[in-house]
Amino acid sequence: MFKHLIDIKNLDKQDILNLIRKAELFKSGELHSSSAGKTVAMMFLENSTRTKCSFELAAKKLGLHVLNFETSKSSFSKGESLLDTLNNLYFIGVEAVVIRSGENGLLENTASRLKYPLKLINAGEGNMSHPTQALLDFMTMTEKLGDIKGKRIAIAGDIKHSRVAKSNLELLGKFGAKVKLCAPDYFKDESIKNVTWYNNLAGAITAADVVMMLRVQRERHEQTDYSFEDYVRDFGLTSEKLEKYAPDAVLMHPGPVNRDVEISSELLDGEKGLTILEQARNGAYIRMAALDEILSEGAK
Ligand code: CP
Repeated sequence: MFKHLIDIKNLDKQDILNLIRKAELFKSGELHSSSAGKTVAMMFLENSTRTKCSFELAAKKLGLHVLNFETSKSSFSKGESLLDTLNNLYFIGVEAVVIRSGENGLLENTASRLKYPLKLINAGEGNMSHPTQALLDFMTMTEKLGDIKGKRIAIAGDIKHSRVAKSNLELLGKFGAKVKLCAPDYFKDESIKNVTWYNNLAGAITAADVVMMLRVQRERHEQTDYSFEDYVRDFGLTSEKLEKYAPDAVLMHPGPVNRDVEISSELLDGEKGLTILEQARNGAYIRMAALDEILSEGAK
């Protein structure tokens, strides 16, 4: 049991395995809600399709009351602080808030200043963390491959701006996967240590068990003087490249996908691309597990 779900680093292996097991039981229909009747607010300060829809569906399947906090119509627009907003939501009757934000560290910082027992769940924060994405990725990998200890996982693309990469690295490290990162210099994050970096896709994905491609996050780029055409040619994945270097690999992508940028349309629309939609489906079960764990009686 944990109070907030803010970062994978705050979860131990058993916490993660418990959440995955719970998600699997929700998926198979063997587990029912322990949190029905509680109230959760969705606060998405950045756009989202998968995370927002799956958190909302998860909450409804658990029998929670769901408030959709509309930032543009809220008193945020009148200058109210996040902390004051959260305190007010708690007194209105909200017990947990799912937050997506572009600001690194906002959730930890806010959680440390909360005066009331409101629970916070990270739905993606800056380029730093996206814990439920890493959990759903882990669930999908273990469904396909079993134990991931020693499995070769290649993560390729815009790693510098990717919260998905950071949370996956944290989680995969706890379970002994062999992770290779692949990016051109302008998408490398020098703060990531103790990982093998590649600047060519073939080297990174050769014999990989999982190839996880990441979205080029143009909306976060400060440096725009690279050649997009060169990037697509050198780091875009096609059926031909996957067949040549990692024919048995599970293909993953957190979404949204830039078609014909990080993955070619023919690969995305083929059998290998289906895993990406399975990731989205597992997201709803992981979010059911996270909400139920945090909101059920007995949670701290
Ligand atoms: N993977 C992911 O976070 O997608 P959304 O931005 O659509 O939620």
